[in-house]
Amino acid sequence: MTRTMSVTTFDLVAMKSRGEKIVAITAYDALFASLVDAAGVDLILVGDSLASVLCGEETTLSATLEQMTYHGRIVVRGTSRAFVVVDMPFLSYQVSVTEAVRNAGNILKQTGAGAVKLEGGFEVVDAVRAMVRAGIPVMGHLGFTPQAVHALGGHRIQGKDDEAASRLVQEAVALEEAGAFSIVLELMPTPVAARVTDAVSVPTVGIGAGPDCDGQVLVLHDMLGLNEGFSPRFLKTYAELGAAVRDAVGRYAGEVREGSYPAVEHGYER
Ligand code: KIV
Repeated sequence: MTRTMSVTTFDLVAMKSRGEKIVAITAYDALFASLVDAAGVDLILVGDSLASVLCGEETTLSATLEQMTYHGRIVVRGTSRAFVVVDMPFLSYQVSVTEAVRNAGNILKQTGAGAVKLEGGFEVVDAVRAMVRAGIPVMGHLGFTPQAVHALGGHRIQGKDDEAASRLVQEAVALEEAGAFSIVLELMPTPVAARVTDAVSVPTVGIGAGPDCDGQVLVLHDMLGLNEGFSPRFLKTYAELGAAVRDAVGRYAGEVREGSYPAVEHGYER
């Protein structure tokens, strides 16, 4: 499956040099992908957050290659302009560089997406370099890396002391040198994200990392108010769709029970 996307990795890097903010958002299916694409986002991330947002899991660790490939394919089907990136799930790139390249290549072959994203710093640099050599565009992910939630002791802000902040800067530089075209920065103090952003020439895309990143990404279901249990400080909800769904379905249920739906105009004459 091949597809010509309007937005490319080159465009995203050029946006940083022009000082234009990159707008990124997650989607997991063709319907929402077509809506966010029509709204003009630059990048759609098929995040492994689907494990928690769609499947009700506590963490993203259960996401599988099969799930990411399936959701990647249907997101690509619904997208005509934005650049689509698919998350590599836990254990699909950490075991060996060979496995990482094969899994990343298969994601691109089977979804039609433009790139993969993987989490981590120095420990993934060899895998990133090998993928890029194989012609696979890679997005990095630093700071709070959800696949390492247990190792990090929970959802904690990263890079809080000088040593940790400097390490994040060095890891970003190493990812850029390995060929990553962009880096997600998750949950870190605003000045640290600004330092990382200044240190690299590829764009940073922040989530809970303040306004100085080159772009921002949010989980669609969170910003639409559909994922009501999740309300971190960085999140802004732009709609209250959870309440809207409950209200609409509640009214439908009431009308079915009282017999006012379907009304005469909803029936078919012979
Ligand atoms: O899985 C995901 O949705 C992500 C974003 C939070 C960046 O990685």
